[in-house]
Amino acid sequence: MSVQKEVKRVTTHVLAEMKLRGEKISMLTSYDYSMAKLVDQAGIDVILVGDSASNVMAGNETTLPITLDQMIYHGKSVVKGVSRALVVVDMPFGTYQGNPLEALSSAIRIMKITHADAVKLEGGKEVIDSVERIVMAGIPVMGHLGLMPQSIHKYGTYTVRAKEELEAKKLLEDAILLEQAGCFAIVLEKIPAKLGTQVAQKLKIPVIGIGAGGGVDGQVLVIHDMLGLTQEFSPRFLRRYLNLASEIKGAVEHYVADVKSRDFPNEKEQYD
Ligand code: KIV
Repeated sequence: MSVQKEVKRVTTHVLAEMKLRGEKISMLTSYDYSMAKLVDQAGIDVILVGDSASNVMAGNETTLPITLDQMIYHGKSVVKGVSRALVVVDMPFGTYQGNPLEALSSAIRIMKITHADAVKLEGGKEVIDSVERIVMAGIPVMGHLGLMPQSIHKYGTYTVRAKEELEAKKLLEDAILLEQAGCFAIVLEKIPAKLGTQVAQKLKIPVIGIGAGGGVDGQVLVIHDMLGLTQEFSPRFLRRYLNLASEIKGAVEHYVADVKSRDFPNEKEQYD
């Protein structure tokens, strides 16, 4: 049903067209130049410089500690490696919830310094004024509903969200508000597949899921998880495409053994 179209540069308009013609949107996270370059060359549509960098790059337990300057550092590195994908940078915790002007100045800093294409933030009604203010300044905004990791201390757990009718109703209302406020897309994290489908059918803008089932307009995963670099994290929605953790450990063990045994460097690997 969907026809894949050759695209030189993915824009928010390209994503809207993809939804219209039923082509699924592929999205992955990246946090550095080298990985982003490979991911882009492999044909991904959207690269998210996620605040999951706080977990997978910095080793924090939550996404809360990462700062605006750290997100800007990651965003800048990723943008340098990308020539086709749309690059979205997450606005970190504490840089947009206070008021719309604070949100706008954080978004402007991200856009000015990283040269990314868009920003992403978590929340619905509570942050709608901030979304409107950022969009008004000409900055594309991606929303994020369902499990919102920046609110982990409110939830107390990372389990599936919006299973109850009341929360599901609020999620749908928030999604509509975000669309009306001008978001170009929304991420839905860890919610029942039926609700994901319902939101995607209701909205005109693309809905990209992570643990939101197959009825949404696209899928996103954290690159460290799908490559098997992280080992302890195994939610039901995660498909691992490689076991890079064991590949890397194997290669390093081999190198250590070669150095110890004096096999490395050999004659061809040194200068006359
Ligand atoms: O920070 C992140 O990686 C994200 C994805 C899980 C969507 O927000």
